[in-house]
Amino acid sequence: MNTIFIYPSFLNDMIKFVVYTSKTSGALSNIELNNLVTEARHNNKNNQITGILLYIDTIFLHYFEGNEESVDTLYEKISGDPRHNSLKLLKSGKTQSKKYENWQMLFKKTSFREINQLLKNNKPYSENPNGINLNYLIATEIFEQLTPDV
Ligand SMILES: Cc1cc2nc3c(=O)[nH]c(=O)nc-3n(C[C@H](O)[C@H](O)[C@H](O)COP(=O)(O)O)c2cc1C
Repeated sequence: MNTIFIYPSFLNDMIKFVVYTSKTSGALSNIELNNLVTEARHNNKNNQITGILLYIDTIFLHYFEGNEESVDTLYEKISGDPRHNSLKLLKSGKTQSKKYENWQMLFKKTSFREINQLLKNNKPYSENPNGINLNYLIATEIFEQLTPDV
């Protein structure tokens, strides 16, 4: 007897996402940021990666999504990039649809001050001697509240 194996198509279509924070050793100039964003958008277009990158004082907060292989390869590259350090993975997982379908990489340069004003009903997001006080829930709220520069 032949067995017909039905493989649900959504399992093939799952999108992987990653959210991480990292630190730069000093503030990056607008030219350096512009170069980074331009390069990332160009590559992301080719690799069908989409997402949003925030630069908060000297902290990056980055969400990106795409097919698993592309996302894993990119995370490895980003992890070894000398422009930042102290990478902290806040969350990675699978989802069925893209959040930033039309955006190779939204970008916003902002500050702790602005973030804390936005999150006034939430726990404040601050830098402290023990590291960055930022978890996935706060990160999600920041992404939802901020309007990117594009
Ligand atoms: C904070 C940060 C975010 C980055 N985001 C991306 C990105 O979304 N896509 C991308 O291709 N490169 C991104 N890069 C750059 C990569 O680390 C790497 O330089 C780039 O992918 C080129 O790699 P290649 O020379 O091996 O092609 C980012 C770098 C930093 C510091």
